[in-house]
Amino acid sequence: MTSERATTDPHPADKRPLLEIDHLSVDFRLESSVVHAVQDVSLHVHAGETLAVVGESGSGKSATALSVLRLNPSPPCVYTGGEIRFDGRDLLTLSEKELGRVRGRDIAMVFQDPMTCLDPLQRVGAQVAEVLRLHTGISRAEARKAALAALDEVGIPDPEVRYRQYPHELSGGLRQRVMIATALVTRPRVVIADEPTTALDVTVQRQILDLLVSLQDKHDMAVVLITHDLAVVAETADRVAVMNKGRVVETGEVLDVFDRPADAYTRRLLAATPRLEAA
Ligand SMILES: Nc1ncnc2c1ncn2[C@@H]1O[C@H](COP(=O)(O)OP(=O)(O)O)[C@@H](O)[C@H]1O
Ligand SMILES: [Mg+2]
Repeated sequence: MTSERATTDPHPADKRPLLEIDHLSVDFRLESSVVHAVQDVSLHVHAGETLAVVGESGSGKSATALSVLRLNPSPPCVYTGGEIRFDGRDLLTLSEKELGRVRGRDIAMVFQDPMTCLDPLQRVGAQVAEVLRLHTGISRAEARKAALAALDEVGIPDPEVRYRQYPHELSGGLRQRVMIATALVTRPRVVIADEPTTALDVTVQRQILDLLVSLQDKHDMAVVLITHDLAVVAETADRVAVMNKGRVVETGEVLDVFDRPADAYTRRLLAATPRLEAA
């Protein structure tokens, strides 16, 4: 059961969420079994807002996030029900061509491991510039200038030097910054970050999250932040949705949910996070 708390809504009724997942269900149809990875999940996020999605491994967080841009491998993935509305359009029914325009331009994703997204054989600056050319058709020189500015904006020192380097020449933290630059260079309105800092050491994690928060403020983006770190949620998110076994078991303002968790699973998650209790 989902419990959405009655709090004063900072978003008036006429201002629709930018991204709205509505009763989404996703199956993985395997040879001998069916995994009901996402079951009747509803989530929404407004411009300028951060929605955190938490839940233990296997609870359906990534499958939900990947559904937004239909990036789950299909087969075995089948979208069995629901709608995903962005700006009023249902992304699940768009043609591949229409969805291609939304991907990367309006909605961008940041993943845990930049090495899976960055081309190891291409210089990182060129990869940022290419995303921009793909979506805007600007000239090579303009794209280069914008890519340099993007590398600078995500806090990469000596962007001119870094621009010409290959992914393996960068540290994990710098690679993650490049991926964020790639995601944000087109000025998307929604960013979905799936455990973006899990592979990094603790101090670098903090820097990357601070970076995401500052860029969100600056560009008024809607952010969906998937994490298993409840301390991060407490510091960065406005609302939180708790997932368990493919379902959203609880959602609401972070402070409300963390102070007075209504769901037993949420209470267990909170109890398993000593950093929060100490705070
Ligand atoms: N490509 C896939 N093929 C088969 N099963 C998958 C695939 N992706 C995810 N699953 C299954 O769907 C469920 C939810 O997975 P996932 O969304 O990745 O969880 P989370 O991100 O919360 O750790 C799990 O049972 C997982 O094994
Ligand atoms: Mg995941």
